[in-house]
Amino acid sequence: MRPPSRRRLELLAWLSLVPLGGLSWAMARAQRGRSRTPGRHVVRGPLPEGLTVDGPVALWRAGGSVGAVSRRCPHLGCTVRPAADGTLACPCHGSRFDAHGRVTRGPAKADLAPLRVTPEIDGDGYVVDLRS
Ligand code: FES
Repeated sequence: MRPPSRRRLELLAWLSLVPLGGLSWAMARAQRGRSRTPGRHVVRGPLPEGLTVDGPVALWRAGGSVGAVSRRCPHLGCTVRPAADGTLACPCHGSRFDAHGRVTRGPAKADLAPLRVTPEIDGDGYVVDLRS
């Protein structure tokens, strides 16, 4: 009987790792949670008062009101960042936005895009609809 070829041994080794790889993939996916669902972003709570930046969204909370805007600058699409004064600043050309995403200084002429945000059903976070 011929010994198995190197290629066959590699294939067997690879097949023996698939269940473990599949398991770790499933566990990693479960840990990332629903924020990986296309079109929505989950922000883990509780949300502090004021401005919070989380991934592609900026959220603000004032008392019981919560709102979210996209961090994509309407000028040329750079990602806005939180500024020390509680506003949002675009690092590319200097546009500024208040905490609610309203433009306060150009060159951007439009506000940051508002996004629909709803409380998480089974947690204290929020679900932001990135397509809204
Ligand atoms: S891309 Fe934001 S100001 Fe130009």
